[in-house]
Amino acid sequence: MVLSNREKIIQLLAQNMHTYVSGQWLSDQLGISRTAVWKQMKHLKEDGYHFKAVPNKGYRLIDMPDKVSENTLFWGLDTDVLGQMLEYHDQLTSTQDLAHTRARENKPDGYLIVANSQTNGRGRLHRAFRSENKNGAWFSFILRPELSPVEAQKITLLTAVSLVRTIKQKTTLEPKIKWPNDILIGDKKLAGILTEMQAEQDQIHYMVIGVGVNINQRLEEFPEELRQTVTSLLVETDERFKRRYFIQDFLKHFEALYRTLLTDGFKSIKQEWEKHAFKLGETLDYRLGKEEKTGVFVDIHDSGALLIEHEGKTERLYSADIHWFKGDKSGC
Ligand code: BTN
Repeated sequence: MVLSNREKIIQLLAQNMHTYVSGQWLSDQLGISRTAVWKQMKHLKEDGYHFKAVPNKGYRLIDMPDKVSENTLFWGLDTDVLGQMLEYHDQLTSTQDLAHTRARENKPDGYLIVANSQTNGRGRLHRAFRSENKNGAWFSFILRPELSPVEAQKITLLTAVSLVRTIKQKTTLEPKIKWPNDILIGDKKLAGILTEMQAEQDQIHYMVIGVGVNINQRLEEFPEELRQTVTSLLVETDERFKRRYFIQDFLKHFEALYRTLLTDGFKSIKQEWEKHAFKLGETLDYRLGKEEKTGVFVDIHDSGALLIEHEGKTERLYSADIHWFKGDKSGC
């Protein structure tokens, strides 16, 4: 990748955020004059970069704007594999679609695709996932796990726990996981997860994990028909968050949990999931085949299925036939 002088300066400053670098050192590194460096610094300030400038010491980068790009996502990304190869696009139809294409082109485990906006974002059950807005975090990554297809649901639950950890690291909110793939604040949806895979009977070729998180949208920025049911971190906390840090921190949590899954199994992840499960222990209406039933949500099975106790029997639900909210007969 050929970097412009501006990008090189940002990169050098970002790599040295713990210390001061002098204008002379920057000009030597770039082979440009001190005046040219000074001009670039002035432009960066105007673009929202914050520096501390100390005479005889130089500049130290304190903060960058909420700019998501391949560079800003990469700097400070503290993972071993996840996101170490990545693509950023200002607009895509869906990061899922491109991730599938890249997986078929043999891109490796952990390959990440991030979009500033999606024109055709999708959710589970072929539903649309509205993500045209540029204030959310919309991304997908490729996994090539050595798991059997029946275990794939564990990855969805693990993703949900990674999101909970990320949200709790940044806020005092109490996120809940609505089985299997939504993150709620109260009863409003903050984030969704879409797990897709290419597999044979006993082998996963690859998985694409898609994550959409509402970060800095104000309520009026959501489509009108969603305003009763969705929320964002900004709406909940009155604070703006840097989307790239959210993505980076999420990837770090995911990688740690994924390692736990592969080395120690699912038990501790399941326990953490249960601590945050929406309506665990409560009575729910659900549909099984053609029958409408009522039972108590008692647990999740190791396979990731939801366990409901009904008339002394425990039923395993894999599909989305739970009516989570009063009057909701559609399941979700
Ligand atoms: C759901 O709510 O049912 C899941 C939503 C998943 C949305 C994410 S956003 C990034 C990735 N690209 C998509 O088109 N969908 C996922």
